[in-house]
Amino acid sequence: MRFQVVILAAGKGKRMNSELPKVLHPLAGRPLLAHVIATAHELAAERICIVHGHGGEQVRKAVSGDNLVFALQEPQLGTGHAVQQALPQLTAAPLTLVLYGDVPLVRADTLRGLLEVAGKGVAILTAVPEDPAGYGRILRNKAKRVTGIVEQKDATAAQRKIREINTGIMALPTAKLKQWLPKLRNKNAQGEYYLTDVVALAVKDRIPVIGVKAADADETEGVNSRVQLAQLERLYRQRQATRLLEAGVTLTDPARIDVRGTLACGRDVAIDVNAVFEGAVELADGVSVGAHCVLKDVAIGPGTRIEPFCHLDGARIGAGCRIGPYARIRPGATLAADVHIGNFVEVKASDIGEGSKANHLAYVGDSTVGRNVNIGAGTITCNYDGVNKHRTVIEDDVHIGSDVQLVAPVRVARGATVGAGTTVWKDTPPGGLVLNPKDQQHRAGWQRPRKAPKKT
Ligand code: UD1
Ligand code: CA
Repeated sequence: MRFQVVILAAGKGKRMNSELPKVLHPLAGRPLLAHVIATAHELAAERICIVHGHGGEQVRKAVSGDNLVFALQEPQLGTGHAVQQALPQLTAAPLTLVLYGDVPLVRADTLRGLLEVAGKGVAILTAVPEDPAGYGRILRNKAKRVTGIVEQKDATAAQRKIREINTGIMALPTAKLKQWLPKLRNKNAQGEYYLTDVVALAVKDRIPVIGVKAADADETEGVNSRVQLAQLERLYRQRQATRLLEAGVTLTDPARIDVRGTLACGRDVAIDVNAVFEGAVELADGVSVGAHCVLKDVAIGPGTRIEPFCHLDGARIGAGCRIGPYARIRPGATLAADVHIGNFVEVKASDIGEGSKANHLAYVGDSTVGRNVNIGAGTITCNYDGVNKHRTVIEDDVHIGSDVQLVAPVRVARGATVGAGTTVWKDTPPGGLVLNPKDQQHRAGWQRPRKAPKKT
C-alpha cells in the first residue's frame, strides 16, 4: 500500500519550560521526533513531511533519514492549518497518515491496522484513557458510526462526558484530504483551523469514517510536560525490558535497565541491575553483564563476563573474556577470545590477542598486543608526546612486570620478559629479560622529618 506521512511538530511546547523545541527533547537518548520518524520508516512510508515552526532550523539539523521533507508553519493556526502547509510537499500516494511529533511510542503495528482501514475511508485512532479531559471527543450516532470530533473547549457538558477521545493520529485518502483542507473554518472556541473538522466533511461527502481503538492507551500518550516525558521514558524502559524477558534474557530487575538504542541478545544472556545500553549493543549467547555497567556501541562475544561498574564504548570483545570490575574499554578496542581486563584498566584503540591479560591498574592505548601476553599492574603505554599519538607493539608471549612504562613508538619482541619498574624506550629483541639497571641503597640511621610538638 502506497502512503506518505505528515508529522505535526510545529507546536511551541510551552509547558516544557525549555529553549529546546519540544520534539527535540530526548526519549531514550533520541529526540522524540526521531522515534516518530523511525516508526514511519519501519512502515515504509514513501515520503515523510515534517511540519515545523518554532526552532525549525534546529529541527532540520537534529533529524535525518531517507525521504524526509520539511514544511514551515508560521504562525501556528491549528492542526488543520499545519497539514495545509504540507500540501505542496505531498506525493501522489493514495493515503496520508498524520502523526504527531510529540507522540513517540505509537506502534508500527497499530498504524498498519489504521492504514488498512483507511483504504475504505477515513481512519482515526481513538483511545479511552482514564481521564479524557482536554482531548477532542469522538461523536458517534445511534448506529455507533463516527459522525464528528468535538474539542473539549467547544464541547457541551454532555459531550464532555464521552470517554472515547481522538488521539490525533489519522489516515486519510490523499485526494479527499486535498479537497477538505481548504474548506476548514476557524469559527471555534480557539479560533484555530482544526484538522478534526475533516471528519464532519467526510460524513457530509458520505465517505465512511472508521474509529480504530488503540489496543493500549499508553502508546498514544503525548508529551506536553517534563512529567509526561519522564513517564514515557519509564514506559519505553518497560517495553524494552518486557521484550528482552520474552526473548529469554534474564533481568535481575526489569525496572532497573535502560536501553537507549538497540540491544540484541543471544540465548541465556543475564543482565544485572542498573545497566545502561546506548547505541547499538550486541550480546552473544551466555554473556553476563554485572550491576552498574554502561555499554555503548559494543559487540560482546559468547560467554564473556562483564563484572560490575564497567564502562565500555565503541569496542569489540571476543568470546570467553572477563572484563572488570571497574574496567574502561574505549573506542577502537578489539579484544580477541579469553582476554582478561581487570579493575582500573583502561584500553583504547588497541588490539589485544587471545588469552592476554591486564588484570590491574594499567593503561593500554594505541597498542597491538599479541597472544598470551601478561601486562603487570601499574603498566602504561606512553602513547602521546603532547602532539602525536604513537603505537606500542607487544608481541606474543611477552611478560611485562609491574609499573612499566612503554614509551611509544616501541616494540617488545616475542617471548621477552620486562622487569618491574622498567622504562622501555627502545625496541627489544625476542626473549630474555629487559630492565633498566638501577641501584638500591640503604641509609642506616636516616631520620624522617618530625612534626614540631603541639603547644599546649
Ligand atoms: C489535538 C486534537 C484533539 C486531540 C489531541 C490529542 C485538533 C483540533 N485537536 O488537540 O482532538 O484529542 O490533539 O493530543 O486537532 N500542531 C502544529 N501546529 C499547530 C497546532 C498543533 O504543528 O498549529 C502540532 C503540535 O506540535 C502537536 C499536535 O499538532 O504535535 C497537536 O497539537 P496540540 O496543541 O497538542 O493538540 P490540540 O490541538 O490541543
Ligand atoms: Ca497535545
